[in-house]
Parts: sequence; structure tokens; C-alpha cells
Amino acid sequence: MKKVGVIGAGTMGSGIAQIAASSGHEVLLFDMHVEARKRARDSLLKILNRLVEKGRLEDRDAKAIFGRIYFVDSLDSLSEVDIVFEAIVENLEIKGSLFKTLEGIVSKEAILATNTSSLSVSAIAAFCNDSSRCIGAHFFNPPPLMKLVEIIPAKQSSKDVIINTKKLIESWGKLTVTAKDTPGFIVNRVARPFYGEALRLFEEGLASPQEIDQVIKTRAGFRMGPFELMDYIGHDVNYKVTETVWKAFYNDPRYKPSFAQKDLVSSGYLGRKSGRGFYLYKDGKRQSEEVDVPQEKSDLIYNRILSMLINEAVDALYYDVASAEDIELAMTKGVNYPKGLLEWGNSMGLQTIVNTLDALHETYREGRYRASPLLRQMVKEGKQFFA
Ligand SMILES: NC(=O)c1ccc[n+]([C@@H]2O[C@H](COP(=O)([O-])OP(=O)(O)OC[C@H]3O[C@@H](n4cnc5c(N)ncnc54)[C@H](O)[C@@H]3O)[C@@H](O)[C@H]2O)c1
Repeated sequence: MKKVGVIGAGTMGSGIAQIAASSGHEVLLFDMHVEARKRARDSLLKILNRLVEKGRLEDRDAKAIFGRIYFVDSLDSLSEVDIVFEAIVENLEIKGSLFKTLEGIVSKEAILATNTSSLSVSAIAAFCNDSSRCIGAHFFNPPPLMKLVEIIPAKQSSKDVIINTKKLIESWGKLTVTAKDTPGFIVNRVARPFYGEALRLFEEGLASPQEIDQVIKTRAGFRMGPFELMDYIGHDVNYKVTETVWKAFYNDPRYKPSFAQKDLVSSGYLGRKSGRGFYLYKDGKRQSEEVDVPQEKSDLIYNRILSMLINEAVDALYYDVASAEDIELAMTKGVNYPKGLLEWGNSMGLQTIVNTLDALHETYREGRYRASPLLRQMVKEGKQFFA
């Protein structure tokens, strides 16, 4: 594939354009707003210059990359592209109409890929006359730095479209995993309890954000604790993903959003970017101190959050959202979890996980703490993952 079209020159679109141009493609980047195109142009120049200053890129390569990106002011300019990556506003009608319009512009063979993080890829594809050319390619923010891309075939996608999209993105040095077209795909589904169970422990007054973050970092080995990470992502963004996944699962209590986080959003305490979230920030630096976490509390935090995460990964496998290997890859290589969650389940003991969940279920009597049928089955048969 030679020419790549990108629509939407925001955070994701300009990142995808940078990756494609860095891999030698000519890129046509369209945004309906002239200011957005200008912003993307300025920010790409700045990023490339910084890479040159740091010695990561030769000056002439940076110039060549920039020279391969055309900031176009009309969709019609995309007539010769082989694949289009759409990264516009997260709205089914708007994305669907765009795909339908594009069909009248690009060649019959061109692939239409959406970067949606929460809409049904099959529903977007359904707007097209030839839906078999559509697929989901979910990049993570910021696209040039994040190694993972989730490939989400629509129900209608042709085999060739799936193979060629995967091949192209892998040729850009990305790691791809294939996910079923279900809410949250792999990462945004499996990661929910990392935030949700931490928020629940906090809301119940069982532990403070500092205590939870400390246990999750020092004992579980994550790079950031859930509260630090939510502050970093921004509570507006993180809350929205949780709410979307929860609604998409018909209000399943496992994904229920938290009042504590909603309150922060309503108060404008969005995290690092607004100087205050769960923590205070001074000159961009988080104001927090080391705390002593008693063993019993540390066990509670560790067992609840890890058991819920492992259960979520097992349930994603049970519902065939992805293969066991891809679930592990997505969480370890994609979002830097210290260990694959299925392997983690093996080492903590699948029976222990079931016991923890059953005890929570007994206490709360909420569907939130139900163990996945696959987890019970594995325990019953004395099996381990990957054995
Ligand atoms: N930001 C993230 O962390 C992230 C991660 C993964 C996926 N996504 C998904 O990627 C997509 C884009 O997100 P973003 O964060 O880059 O958004 P953004 O707001 O930064 O950029 C969107 C751009 O699309 C343009 N646009 C809107 N409607 C358009 C249309 N009809 N035609 C042409 N241009 C249009 C806007 O002018 C804007 O510049 C969304 O579907 C989002 O869910 C975002």
C-alpha cells in the first residue's frame, strides 16, 4: 500500500499520520476545520524538530517525513488512497455518513478503517454499500509511542481486508491483537476493574488513594497506581470510557461508574491537567508522600483489585473477545501491565481468586463480584491457563 488517508487531524489522526509518513507512505490528512489542520501542522513540526534535537532522527529524515504529509482541505483529494484511517468525533451517525461519502471518492479496493474506541465497528460499516471493506484499527494515545493496535474486524469485513490491514500496521512496527467487536474491545474492557475496584475501595472508606497506589506499585509492580493514572488520563476522559462501557453492557454492575469520580468531573478537578484530581499538582508535580500500609490492608487492596482484573481477563476469554495470547499481549505490551493477567491468575491460584470473589459476593450480594464460569470450570477441572 502506498498512499494513506487520515481524516481528523486531532490527537489521534495527527499521530497516525506521523507514523504512516515515518514508514515512508504519502499521507493525505484531512480535517473539516482549518484551525485543526493548522494546529496539527504546527504540532507535527514541533514533534519532529524535538526528535532531531534529541538525536533520534536525522534532520533530512524529519524533513522528508514532514514533506510526505499533505494537509488537504477537501475529502475529494483522497481519491487515490489505498486505506483511510478515520479519527474524527466519536459519533456513530457522523462516522457512518463519512464512510458512506468516502465510498463515492476512493477506489473500490480501498480499505476504510475506524479508530473508534467505543462504537460498534459493524454498525459503522453498515452505512457502506460494500461493508466488507471496513475494519476497526484502535490506536492508543499517543499513537507514535504506544506499541499496541487492536484490530477489530466488523461482522462484514472480508478476510483480505483483515489480513492487509494487520500486515500494514505491523509493517509500521506496531504490535497487533485481534478483538471481537464488543464494547471496550480488549484493553478498555479488561482494564476497567483497575480503576473501578480501586474507586470502590476508596468510596467504601477501606483505603485512601495513596495507600491503594502504593500497594499497586510496590507490591503488584504496576508503573502507576490507579489514582495517579486516572489523574494523568483526566477524569473526564476516564469517566466517559467507564460510563460508555457500562451502558454498552446494559448497566452490568461490574462496570458501574463511581460517584467519587463523577464528583471530580463535575467540580472541574480533572486531574493533572487542571492542577487537581485525587492529588494536588504544583508545577505539574504530584504532591504526595509515602504512606505505611498495614499488611492486612495491603492484602485487601491487592487481592480485590487483582482478583477483579484476572476475572475480567478470564471472562473476556470466556466470551471469545480475543485469544488468551492476545489478551496477555494487549495488557503487557500494550498498556504495560507487569504480568499477563491469566498467568497472574495461575500464580495467585485460580481457586484463591474464586474464593476472594465468592467472599465478596457473599458480603455485597451484587452481580459485580460474580466469578466467570470459565474460572470455575478451570478450578473444577484442576487446570491452569497455557498448561
Ligand atoms: N484521544 C484518545 O485517547 C483516543 C484513543 C483511542 C481512540 N480514540 C478515538 O479516536 C477518534 C478521535 O479522537 P481524538 O482524541 O483524536 O479527537 P480530537 O477531538 O483530538 O480530534 C478530532 C478531529 O476530528 C475533526 N473532525 C470532527 N468531525 C469531523 C468530520 N466530520 N470530518 C472531518 N474532520 C472532523 C475535528 O475538527 C478534530 O480536529 C475518536 O473516535 C476517539 O474515540 C481516541
